[in-house]
Amino acid sequence: MKIVVLCGGVSTERDISIVSGSGVCRALREKGHQAILLDVFFGNEYADLMNAFPEDYNVDEAVSYIHSCDSMIESALSNPSRTFFGANVVKLCKMADIVFLALHGENGENGKVQAAFDLRRIRYTGTGHLGSAMAMDKGIAKTMLAHHNVPVPKGYSVRKDNYLGAKKEKPEEKNPSVKKRSDGTYEDFIIRGMELPAVIKVCCGGSSVGVYIVTSKREFEEAVEMAFSYEDEIIVEEYIEGREFSVGVIDGEALPVIEIDPIDGFYDYKNKYTAGATIETCPADLPGELSRRMREYAEIGYEALCLDGYGRLDFMMRDNGEIFCLEANTLPGMTPTSLIPQEAAALGVDYPTLCEKLIEVSMKKYM
Ligand SMILES: Nc1ncnc2c1ncn2[C@@H]1O[C@H](COP(=O)(O)OP(=O)(O)O)[C@@H](O)[C@H]1O
Ligand SMILES: [Mg+2]
Repeated sequence: MKIVVLCGGVSTERDISIVSGSGVCRALREKGHQAILLDVFFGNEYADLMNAFPEDYNVDEAVSYIHSCDSMIESALSNPSRTFFGANVVKLCKMADIVFLALHGENGENGKVQAAFDLRRIRYTGTGHLGSAMAMDKGIAKTMLAHHNVPVPKGYSVRKDNYLGAKKEKPEEKNPSVKKRSDGTYEDFIIRGMELPAVIKVCCGGSSVGVYIVTSKREFEEAVEMAFSYEDEIIVEEYIEGREFSVGVIDGEALPVIEIDPIDGFYDYKNKYTAGATIETCPADLPGELSRRMREYAEIGYEALCLDGYGRLDFMMRDNGEIFCLEANTLPGMTPTSLIPQEAAALGVDYPTLCEKLIEVSMKKYM
């Protein structure tokens, strides 16, 4: 098949997306597909449109070309007439049999690219625009999950304008939803009965950027300010102490559970992407009943959020066996050592076969 593997972009996860994309492109080439690697934001102005999907192709050269654009992001973004899709991206994607979305974060994972592709009749892997948008917004995702009886940490989301309104002197006049307590400061609004430790995180982030675990009121306030520097909506939720797991789902069916155990601290950006920083065990060492329940929650969550093709749901489990779903990822990491490839490997499915399988299940929606 002629396949564009789309990666890069301008989200905080640009670099990891390029690693996912190059891995997928190599794997699909190994399987005999005419796959090419393309940066969604910079595209390729030198692309040979007459022979866009050559038999011989050097993935390393494509990666170097993509990285040569890294330093131009700031200036491109400050150009008001610049739009999201780079040179020849739409043309090349239209020429492909399908586009493998190796994008992560923000545009790419939030449904906008999917919607744009639907309108242009470009086929792509994974979830459509609605599911992508719902899963990307952790507040909406939690509401949908809870509605389908998938347990989630208790908490709430806060918008920056409400928060700033509440910070002013008479919060209840600015915003009727604000309840002033006896000592009546804005912190009361934001903490709102939440016990410490708590988790503050940006609503639509990824890769643990803008995620803070706070243990004091001061840290809480600082984290809220920091999180609002990234986004206009944040999630405040209870901290679940316990073990962390993740479950990939392909075509509605859960893969084996993987346990994630950072050697130091929580599963933050450093522990996600530094080799050896996190011990990952698949299948996880869990009693059968708990792993069955977690996989069932993953499958229900997948349906509840309208995921399609594949996705991955993240979980925490307390020592007493209580399970909580943290979030769903519609375009989870696809480097050869990412979680889903490890889960597939536990079933004896190697990485190239997995990449091809994701193409196969994604084609179903176009049959
Ligand atoms: N409520 C919580 N309790 C405990 N740890 C949490 C909680 N929320 C997030 N975390 C930690 O932060 C990490 C990132 O949070 P997550 O909600 O998965 O966002 P991201 O989209 O950045 O991956 C999780 O993998 C987990 O280690
Ligand atoms: Mg996560």
